[in-house]
Amino acid sequence: MLPFYGGIFIFFSAIIEMRGDPMKNNLRKTLLSQRDALSKEAIYIKSYAVYQALQSTKSYQESKNIFCFISFGSEIKTELILADALLNKDLYVPCIDKQTKKMVPVKMTTGTQLYKNNFGIYEPTYDPHADIPDHFDLAIVPGLAFDRRGHRIGYGKGHYDNFFSKYPVTHKAGIAFAFQIIVDLPNQDYDQTVDTIITEEEIISIPRLPK
Ligand SMILES: Nc1ncnc2c1ncn2[C@@H]1O[C@H](COP(=O)(O)OP(=O)(O)OP(=O)(O)O)[C@@H](O)[C@H]1O
Ligand SMILES: [Mg+2]
Repeated sequence: MLPFYGGIFIFFSAIIEMRGDPMKNNLRKTLLSQRDALSKEAIYIKSYAVYQALQSTKSYQESKNIFCFISFGSEIKTELILADALLNKDLYVPCIDKQTKKMVPVKMTTGTQLYKNNFGIYEPTYDPHADIPDHFDLAIVPGLAFDRRGHRIGYGKGHYDNFFSKYPVTHKAGIAFAFQIIVDLPNQDYDQTVDTIITEEEIISIPRLPK
């Protein structure tokens, strides 16, 4: 009897696993087209509100080093965050390592040259021998959608899930437009949650549940 039930369990798990990705993919398509429909002015105004809200948080004020993405396309603009962090903190930005295709942190200073990668995203040159800190105080996380439990959907490469499974980060703050907060997101075991979500309308603190 047991192998029979075991077989059924594997069968249903496989179906759920197969359904997971199409669900995420449909959400990605819808949310990306909604985000692309925002005007440039709206993006700048909302991004400024997010920047100000982030500045008001203890996790930002107390952070000595931060990891923050360089925005592209219709994402929340991170220029102001990057400029402030360049002056006041140790700033690390993402780079895709050409060898491993994984996202790695690279220290950015005022003299750092940025180049467009294959996806049109600006990044610095990666030096695998450069020192990186043993942890990041704060990571600023992009996303196509978040829910109020801290679940996140990105572009679907698993870059941030992989990054957070490797590099210790004290506080993860997702930044998004208010319309990107969705009631309940599908999520898999490997999906990493955020601790806070900051939109132009509110700061959402996610209660940490025991694992
Ligand atoms: N820690 C990890 N190491 C390597 N691959 C991983 C890890 N976590 C997740 N993945 C893989 O990444 C793939 C995409 O994951 P998912 O659909 O959650 O992307 P995402 O979180 O939306 O992407 P991104 O973070 O790049 O925006 C999955 O197929 C998964 O197997
Ligand atoms: Mg994920």
